[in-house]
Amino acid sequence: MKKITQENYEEWAVVTGASSGVGREMALEIASKGISVVLLARRQELLDVLAEEIAQKHQVECKILVVDFSKDGSTQKVIEATQGLEVGLLVNSAGYALTGEFSENRLEDEVALLDVNVKTPLILSHYFSRQMKARQKGGIIFLSSLMAFGAAKNWVSYNASKSHNLLLAEGLGEELRSYGVNVIALTPGSIKSGFGQRSQTKAMFGALHPKRVARCGLWMLGCKRTHTAGMMNKIIVFSTRLTPRFLNTKIFSLVVRGLQK
Ligand SMILES: NC(=O)c1ccc[n+]([C@@H]2O[C@H](COP(=O)([O-])OP(=O)(O)OC[C@H]3O[C@@H](n4cnc5c(N)ncnc54)[C@H](OP(=O)(O)O)[C@@H]3O)[C@@H](O)[C@H]2O)c1
Repeated sequence: MKKITQENYEEWAVVTGASSGVGREMALEIASKGISVVLLARRQELLDVLAEEIAQKHQVECKILVVDFSKDGSTQKVIEATQGLEVGLLVNSAGYALTGEFSENRLEDEVALLDVNVKTPLILSHYFSRQMKARQKGGIIFLSSLMAFGAAKNWVSYNASKSHNLLLAEGLGEELRSYGVNVIALTPGSIKSGFGQRSQTKAMFGALHPKRVARCGLWMLGCKRTHTAGMMNKIIVFSTRLTPRFLNTKIFSLVVRGLQK
């Protein structure tokens, strides 16, 4: 394990989805380690509050970029806004679920989910991993999900997007290992965050606090390629290896039904 310090991870971290939930807690944790943060999301007022909290608590710099990752050119804005910054940590936390039957949902909504959950982390990881590779240090964290381990009706694209995050992280981690760059996919189950409101679902019994997910994720960076917080969630991941895929789909579909409000 490499401690989260400027020495190990450079001066700056970029955090997507910093206005709420895990991204917000990641930004606070990283700032507490003396690393400056670039906060990205759409809701400026929440980013302003977070930047104020960071300024009061920690001796680091903080930059805000209001950006909608479902819009064309959004990742280019991030690239331009971070020119000249030594970015050694990237947290890909922005993401949400679209509930409903795939063929009944609007195609543009399905594509927007892909832009936010898949295309954005892919482009940002591609861009920042080159810099990290050249410096022979860095870390990339993907917020995948327990849902990456099985398909489910009514969350078709969400689960597929989280599988993409998981496999991208695992493969990229293997590629970057010899360059001293650590990659991890976090696969938490239910979290008490803004996610439920956005996806019209409720948090499950035993839902995790985003601070715990953030702390565990940063702690595990460099130790593991995939980390699932919570004993029950670990058991679920293990059990998906024992059951046939069609059965996993049935079980995950029941879980998603149970989550719906
Ligand atoms: N909550 C769960 O139960 C759970 C479980 C497993 C995995 N996850 C994953 O964990 C990650 C973080 O979720 P969370 O629980 O922290 O949810 P959250 O509180 O809703 O946070 C999601 C973040 O994503 C940002 N975001 C959403 N759409 C965006 C867009 N179009 N452009 C830019 N930013 C956007 C939101 O900011 P703005 O709205 O201000 O743009 C917000 O900061 C997600 O990738 C999610 O899939 C969540």
